[in-house]
Amino acid sequence: MDSVVIVGTQWGDEGKGKITDYYARRSDYIVRFQGGNNAGHTIEVGDEKFQLHLVPSGLLRENKKAVIGNGVVVDPKVLIDELKRLEKKDIDTSDLILSDRAHLIMPYHKVEDELYEKLKGNLKAGTTKKGIGPCYMDKAARYGIRVVDLYDPKSFKHKLEKIVPVKNKIFQSFDVDKRWDVDEILEEYLEYAERLEGYVQDVSVQLERALERDKNLLFEGAQGTHLDIDHGVYPYTTSSNTTAGNASIGSGIGPKNISSIIGIAKAYTSRVGTGPFPTELEGETGEYIRERGNEYGTTTGRPRRVGWLDLVMLRYSARVNSLTSLAVTCVDVLAGLDQIKVCTDYRLDGENKREFPADIESLYRCDPVYKKFEGWEEEEWSTIADKGYEALPENIEKYLEFIEKETGVPIKHVSIGPKRDQTLEK
Ligand code: GDP
Ligand code: IMO
Ligand code: MG
Repeated sequence: MDSVVIVGTQWGDEGKGKITDYYARRSDYIVRFQGGNNAGHTIEVGDEKFQLHLVPSGLLRENKKAVIGNGVVVDPKVLIDELKRLEKKDIDTSDLILSDRAHLIMPYHKVEDELYEKLKGNLKAGTTKKGIGPCYMDKAARYGIRVVDLYDPKSFKHKLEKIVPVKNKIFQSFDVDKRWDVDEILEEYLEYAERLEGYVQDVSVQLERALERDKNLLFEGAQGTHLDIDHGVYPYTTSSNTTAGNASIGSGIGPKNISSIIGIAKAYTSRVGTGPFPTELEGETGEYIRERGNEYGTTTGRPRRVGWLDLVMLRYSARVNSLTSLAVTCVDVLAGLDQIKVCTDYRLDGENKREFPADIESLYRCDPVYKKFEGWEEEEWSTIADKGYEALPENIEKYLEFIEKETGVPIKHVSIGPKRDQTLEK
């Protein structure tokens, strides 16, 4: 029995979807445990490119259970549309399991997301505007609607009657020209209920049964460690715990069931949204990496900010997630650069800092201390993928060895292209 957690070690978009799909070959259950359709996970299979937002990446492999855990916030319309799109591409969606305890994104959450971002001014995180934050707000305030509520219309209506007037008052007081009607929401959501009914189960019970039958579980994190609401660059984070500990809470299995934790790191750093970014690259090199890495948001299409690899960030991620190995992705993207830099420490007020500061104002003032590496050439990456890890050019090996030494975490996977078969295992 093997239970593996995959998490992002940076600010999201590290290639979690691609590595989850790779690992899913040897897993039976692939579980999303947090976030919602703010995520965008890309998997390229042959000539087909899949961009998944809510459905676990495991659904693309045959005979795997794809599980949406209680910790996920679910926009039912988005889920239904995503399933439809997959079915059109002949993907069997019958193996999906949706937690009865997952919270639902309601239409007013998306409007609140826009409103709160506007009100926050320079404190805004630059959210995906999918209603993620407001849905988690209502969950914490115990004002949320859960999947299970869809199947008890009387209680669902009762809850809406309590919540909707509050939301309408908020919109009214901030001059937002939107009001909701309980019956309209009820009608819309009861239709979704009908469509989703076959998938709804108690995920904790299902996973326990799977463990009893020695099935392999794979937990697919969304976002990244530095977007974690506790451990990230608060307030420029998302609204959930993106770190490994939440795999347990967001699915309903105890922590002792988890056997390994893989951190996904890009060979450089990228970021969508606002907030400090010590190794950010502006100018030609940044542009080169953005274009080669196609660094445009999977969910919003926004150009991603890019920068050098930051080992202060990675060491932090190794600690807060208890990483047992790293998967380094997009190594091919850096090809063609004469020199590649890696940030080892921050320089703040005349001192070298090894640890990531909690306060954002200090982080803005941190200057990266770099170690320089010789670059590598463009290669036939598919040929290297066929030959295996040993075929990697020497300069890449040196770069990877340094990452291992500095983080204290072994690198077990290296990704050298977006395609399913472009992953090397050490
Ligand atoms: P996720 O959110 O962590 O799953 O990552 P995204 O899918 O949002 O973004 C990663 C992007 O990099 C996607 O376009 C992937 O197809 C692509 N990608 C993943 N691994 C590699 C790699 O090793 N090389 C290149 N060139 N692209 C990669
Ligand atoms: P994946 O799973 C990158 C960022 C947003 C914003 C902040 C808060 O594809 O790696 P939210 O909508 O969550 O309230 O936005 O978090 N963000 C992501 N950035 N990848 C993601 O997911 C992200 N999900 C949220 O850009 O800065
Ligand atoms: Mg993404």
